[in-house]
Amino acid sequence: MRVGGTPHRTIWLAADAVSGIGDVEIIDQTKLPHEFTTVRLTTMEEAGFAIKDMWVRGAPLIGATAAYGVALAMRTDPSEAHLAKAYDHLFNTRPTAVNLRWALDDMTRLLSALPPDQRIMAAFRRAAEISDEDVAICASIGEHGKAVIEAAWDKKGRAETVNVLTHCNAGWLATVDWGTALAPIYKAYDSGIPVHVWVDETRPRNQGASLTAWELAQHGVDHTVIVDNAGGHLMQHGMVDLCITGTDRTTYTGDVCNKIGTYLKALAAQDNSVPFYVGLPSPTIDWTAEDGVRDIPIEERGTAEVSSISGRGEDGRLRNVQLTPDTSPAANYAFDITPRHLITGLITERGICDASADSLKRLFPEMG
Ligand code: MRU
Repeated sequence: MRVGGTPHRTIWLAADAVSGIGDVEIIDQTKLPHEFTTVRLTTMEEAGFAIKDMWVRGAPLIGATAAYGVALAMRTDPSEAHLAKAYDHLFNTRPTAVNLRWALDDMTRLLSALPPDQRIMAAFRRAAEISDEDVAICASIGEHGKAVIEAAWDKKGRAETVNVLTHCNAGWLATVDWGTALAPIYKAYDSGIPVHVWVDETRPRNQGASLTAWELAQHGVDHTVIVDNAGGHLMQHGMVDLCITGTDRTTYTGDVCNKIGTYLKALAAQDNSVPFYVGLPSPTIDWTAEDGVRDIPIEERGTAEVSSISGRGEDGRLRNVQLTPDTSPAANYAFDITPRHLITGLITERGICDASADSLKRLFPEMG
């Protein structure tokens, strides 16, 4: 996608890389929307820090960064012991997005079958492939999801704007490019369908207010930031035609784990007969998890994210301010589960299906 008119991905090999081996660059998403800065990752530990501290975030981008983290580890020391150390270090950065485990398993399977002197080149090549595959998957989710937006437009006689509500950031900043929930919106917009996006601010990290709003603005898509509690009201008043969110892990039965608050939007959507879709790249399906509430670990983050908030002060500088009384405890559950019965459809790279084990298996028979 474009930043100030220039095409960008969220992760890329530094320009001074030689024969596909080099440092890795990312966008520091903690500074957006106020500052666009890029950061160079030179070691596996730096890649781990970037994931843990959410310089990069979003399930697919976490996976791609972990893959490059393994490549950086191999550049330092391609031994079996260091490969195992890299797996453990990166695996322990964030627990919920399953793309992290998927990418680490994929890299380890490939590299452990090779002699150490072939691992560096193979690791960088595979990390680049994982990134390219993510772009292709998201572009395809965009095409399939565009049809849903177009159908909503048809239903309105092609006369009115289609209003889509989204939660958190599941746009190109959460992936390598295009996004999952936002890819259908970009594809619809690019093909001339009038679309407006209700952007949940998404406390406590405000990925909606800071990231989704920023990238929609960069692309020129009409949008409005709302507080997290506004969605139900908008749905009751017919102001939302459909919801599309992303997912950090989806069980093979169709339960969706996504940013905290997604479940409440799905409940409101069902009560108001608003279709609720999820953009789902196949590496985000956990084929070992059956019941979302029982089987998916929910990340608990530091409580300072709840008790304080950061933003740009009147002097133009970024700062953090405290919201809560000094003595009040806080809790910070980062994700929740939307059960399959609340989901209208899963938009995958192979098409749209019901949130059910049978439908997912029909689309991905090789996993059954
Ligand atoms: O905590 P984050 O910002 O990593 O959470 C991101 C989300 O919940 C996204 O909706 C999800 O990863 C899907 S991204 C394509």
